[in-house]
Amino acid sequence: MEKTEVIELLSAEKIQQRVSEIGRQITADLAGTDQLLVVGVLKGAFMFTADLVRSIQIPCHIEFIRASSYGHSMQSSGNVAISGDLDIENHDVLLVEDIIDTGLTILRIAENFRKKNPASLRICTLLDKPSTRKYPVTVDYSGFSVPDRFVVGYGIDYAEQYRELPFIGTLP
Ligand code: IMP
Ligand code: MG
Repeated sequence: MEKTEVIELLSAEKIQQRVSEIGRQITADLAGTDQLLVVGVLKGAFMFTADLVRSIQIPCHIEFIRASSYGHSMQSSGNVAISGDLDIENHDVLLVEDIIDTGLTILRIAENFRKKNPASLRICTLLDKPSTRKYPVTVDYSGFSVPDRFVVGYGIDYAEQYRELPFIGTLP
């Protein structure tokens, strides 16, 4: 498939700077915990998770779950399939998402996690589209608010393309 040009919205440098800031904030908030569990949501958050854990100056365990709601379309299907059965009991869990749009995906994951008795649960997202929120979620850490445009890059895809880009952009 031909790749169309991506119009840059957030440069690699800007992303790295913000990721470092969030890492410092999380380090301050969670200082002293010896049970930090960082859970990245695949596939979109793989790059963000990898960069973020390098800026969190607290020993942690790292796990990944998979959540799919989009398939190969630009519209959410309304269903969220979650895979990966983690033992998170008594852990301070930091859920790491790529982007929160309607809020359905992260809401379902958070509901699922809360049933497993974590010591605490925090939500961190790189991108947030507040104007399209339909489901109420409390986001603890958010990198950037973006307009209601379809974005790709830095782990985020369109039909499995563009994940490898070091920056975030929009498709024309
Ligand atoms: P939500 O369930 O509506 O909040 O959608 C969240 C999920 O949809 C994210 O984890 C992404 O995988 C995907 N998504 C939402 N907006 C975009 C976008 O602009 N580009 C690529 N994927 C997106
Ligand atoms: Mg995602």
